[in-house]
Amino acid sequence: MKPVEIKKDIFWVGAVDWDSRDFHGYSMSPRGTTYNAFLVRDEKTVLIDTVKSDFLSEFLCSVSQACGGEPHIDYMVVNHLEPDHAGCLDVIVARFKPEKIFVSPMGEKALRSFYHDSKDWPIEVVPTGASISIGKRTIQFIETRMLHWPDNMVSYIPEDKIAFCSDAFGQNWATTERFSDEVDRGILNRLLAEYYANIVLPYSPMVLKTLDALAGMNLSIDMLCPDHGLIWRGHEDVAFALNSYREFALQKPTNKAVIIYDTMWHSTEKMARAICDGLVSEGVSVRIMSVKHNHHSAVMAEVFDAAAVLVGSPTHNNGILPMLADVLTYMKGLRPQNKIGAAFGSFGWSGECVKILTEHLSGMGMEMVEPAVKVKNRPDHETFQACYELGQKVGQAIKTRLAA
Ligand code: FEO
Repeated sequence: MKPVEIKKDIFWVGAVDWDSRDFHGYSMSPRGTTYNAFLVRDEKTVLIDTVKSDFLSEFLCSVSQACGGEPHIDYMVVNHLEPDHAGCLDVIVARFKPEKIFVSPMGEKALRSFYHDSKDWPIEVVPTGASISIGKRTIQFIETRMLHWPDNMVSYIPEDKIAFCSDAFGQNWATTERFSDEVDRGILNRLLAEYYANIVLPYSPMVLKTLDALAGMNLSIDMLCPDHGLIWRGHEDVAFALNSYREFALQKPTNKAVIIYDTMWHSTEKMARAICDGLVSEGVSVRIMSVKHNHHSAVMAEVFDAAAVLVGSPTHNNGILPMLADVLTYMKGLRPQNKIGAAFGSFGWSGECVKILTEHLSGMGMEMVEPAVKVKNRPDHETFQACYELGQKVGQAIKTRLAA
């Protein structure tokens, strides 16, 4: 990729990964992603982050072009050590021999354990409040621990009103455009939410603290540069990204329920549709998601702002079906809050499914609506009626919660 000058003498030197589908090994990225890195030309030339090592050759080419004249890097800023951003760090250090490498206190620990030969690297630890001069500009550092790793930090250049925010406010979207005002806004906003639901959600309490801390600093930001996806350009778009994160972190329920199920001989599937009818009769918007047809990250993208999660499985080997267990394990790790739960399922002989599902959901702190519905082999008219009534009860519980 050619570098893109995003402000005077500040360049995007990242890589676009059109083929990324398995983001970090756990979340789908159906539209690909980008690894954003930035180069600032001042009295010191500063490289902020790198890219995934698969893109090393193009990255070196972009960096060289952005330097203008003889390629050189005086300072490196490492906002985050995950290998999609620090993957070329050792090559950069060996090739350009920067005078200084700035990392957060937790970043230093991560760097030492990722790069075992870094003993002689010129590392300078920059906690929140530290700043450096690079000529006409300064760079201020703000730790953003657990957003989403312990080492993450934001680098802010007040003279340009630009903040480099590592994984925060990112989206997985491979595009030729670089700015938020150049793309379809509905898609961008959806991808921002999907990224939050799958990457940042468990750290929502820290997000709120970080947003409060940033607000308290009164930073003027007109460009917010995440390490993935589009750059938020202009005060309005920056405010949108910040406000969206506050909304996401609060996890306020919306008038929406997600029915997640797996099925063997379609009994549990049919129960899911009857429950859906009951929810709809109470005015709830419903998503029915078969785990055979929806990856766990697509499920979480719907769950994170839903008021209720209803889960169904047949009993299988005294347990539940394995693909559903995968979804529930993934969901538990993301720690969704403020949910109503309900369980349903079918069985042939032992029938443990709803007990196990109830334990999973209540273990995540969900307020369970009872009774769960289970049926031996095939649902009949009475079972469908019980499913419908379970949907109605959950719908009424949602109304009560939204009115509170
Ligand atoms: Fe995009 Fe936490 O790496």
